[in-house]
Amino acid sequence: MKSTQEQLKHKLQHALVAAFGPDYAEVDPILVNASNPKFGDYQSNVSLPLSKQLKQPPRAIAQQIVEKLDVADICQPPEVAGPGFINLKLTTQYLETELRKIQTDPRLGVTPTKNPQRVIIDYPSPNIAKEMHVGHLRPAVIGDCLSRILEFVGHDVLRISHVGDWGTPFGMLIAYLEEAYPQALTTTNTLDLGDLSSFYRQAKKRFDADEEFKEIARQAVVKLQAGDEKTLLAWKIVCQLSSRSYQVIYDLMGISPQIIERGESFYNALLPEIVEELDKLGLSVENQGAKCVFLEGFTNREGEPLPLIIQKSGGGYNYATTDLAAIRYRVQVDKAKRVIYPVDAGQSNHFAQVFQVGRKAGWITDDVEFVHAPFGLVLGEDGQKLKSRSGEAVRLQDLLDGAIAHTRTDLEKRLKEEGREETEEFINQAAQVVGISAVKYADLSQNRTSNYIFSYDKMLALKGNTAPYMLYAYVRTQGISREGHIDFEQLGADAKILLQEETELALAKHLLQLDEVLSDVEQDLLPNRLCEYLYQLSDKFNKFYENCPVLKSEEPMRTSRLVLCDLTAKTLRLGLSLLGIKVLERM
Ligand code: ARG
Repeated sequence: MKSTQEQLKHKLQHALVAAFGPDYAEVDPILVNASNPKFGDYQSNVSLPLSKQLKQPPRAIAQQIVEKLDVADICQPPEVAGPGFINLKLTTQYLETELRKIQTDPRLGVTPTKNPQRVIIDYPSPNIAKEMHVGHLRPAVIGDCLSRILEFVGHDVLRISHVGDWGTPFGMLIAYLEEAYPQALTTTNTLDLGDLSSFYRQAKKRFDADEEFKEIARQAVVKLQAGDEKTLLAWKIVCQLSSRSYQVIYDLMGISPQIIERGESFYNALLPEIVEELDKLGLSVENQGAKCVFLEGFTNREGEPLPLIIQKSGGGYNYATTDLAAIRYRVQVDKAKRVIYPVDAGQSNHFAQVFQVGRKAGWITDDVEFVHAPFGLVLGEDGQKLKSRSGEAVRLQDLLDGAIAHTRTDLEKRLKEEGREETEEFINQAAQVVGISAVKYADLSQNRTSNYIFSYDKMLALKGNTAPYMLYAYVRTQGISREGHIDFEQLGADAKILLQEETELALAKHLLQLDEVLSDVEQDLLPNRLCEYLYQLSDKFNKFYENCPVLKSEEPMRTSRLVLCDLTAKTLRLGLSLLGIKVLERM
């Protein structure tokens, strides 16, 4: 099934050719959602930019397009309005037929892309010598959501975590492991080193208290880089400890388990080649002992061109060299056609620079797209970067536990008010699902590029663009089926759909737009568009439900309206699942 928008675009393109000749076959019909539902559902703005080229007033152009436009199976007769817009209003019959088609379609009318690509999403990529903190929230949530959406659209998605698993921060941990757990290095059994956080804290304590230990830690880095076997083993054990403790958090957050951990160390062996290749291409320059590539469009305060260092004066490589190796690998070995980096906006320059070098070196060819999908900061209620009381970045675990605890308090209060008795198991489950969903939704519903204020009260509000509001809308749909003893699955493909009321028509149109929204997110990588769509859906559903009796109406309206409830439920469930959010049957 083709989306309504696609069908209309196609028809407009035909009309353009019929009216003005084959030269106009490639013209974008500029089809958008109508600015005001009074004028219709869609509008084409193509006549305005064509005016100059055709040397005719836009209204006259619009008129000629409309004369050739055959949309009778979809729309009421098109109208030319204002300076030359073409307004299109869907017919009730079209809406009824299309809804029936999606009712039995598990993809709800979203056709898989005709151009499936291998896509790499680089997330959540933490630096693993440390505990996960608030800074890791956004890459995990956004990366997971984008992966789910692109996969659903039909792409072959590789989730690759470019973990910072190499370098100086490991010295302290390796030295501590060797000192406190020497058995770990001699037995083949895995030792229980506790969780990463207590291990890290103990190591840090040791490091801060003892100069001699500091020196040992520094030595450990040198040995690690020199490939000393025992040090490498200690490093591996620390990495495993980190990965395991990260997995606990990903599981709690419901992040897809399909993440492949391919850290910076993976590229170590390739780094000399990368520099050699850049040397051979004549792209690298020696500068005070270091090797650099000079970039276009990047200058320092004095206006001098800015170099990207690819090899330090001591011979060592850096973050940029590793990313260049990853770029080459992702194109040449992984055969990715699109590589997406949901990484904080603070790294915009870094990515613009390595992408530029990647293109100059010929690794990023014209058929491959590398995109940095930047995001803003998570702020505290004071508008400053979110910090714990002791002034450090808040631990991610604490942030999530806090959300669950807050939800639990709210829930217990509400149960008391409603005089409801629920089992401990129900309360635990609901508090976890709602708490985690609230954190994720609060993040995803913001424009990705903006900073946002992290507030439990706001994200847990029952009204507004929040997870609880959305989850409630779903619960309400399920309540209808319970109340009427209706099994939505049994409504059948032969159920007739009849749309009469304004609110019914509005809901129906919205239900048919899921594929349009997903195709927008596929392009611009902004999950807030999907949140907004679902929020509007809940709103339209509520209006419909207030205005149109469902269980109490007569057949055939009753079944038709039940189908609308069912489709709303399915769309909410699918849409939320693409955000990485689970629904509850009751809450
Ligand atoms: N580890 C980095 C950090 O925590 C993020 C890595 C992002 N991905 C990349 N390929 N550079 O800042």
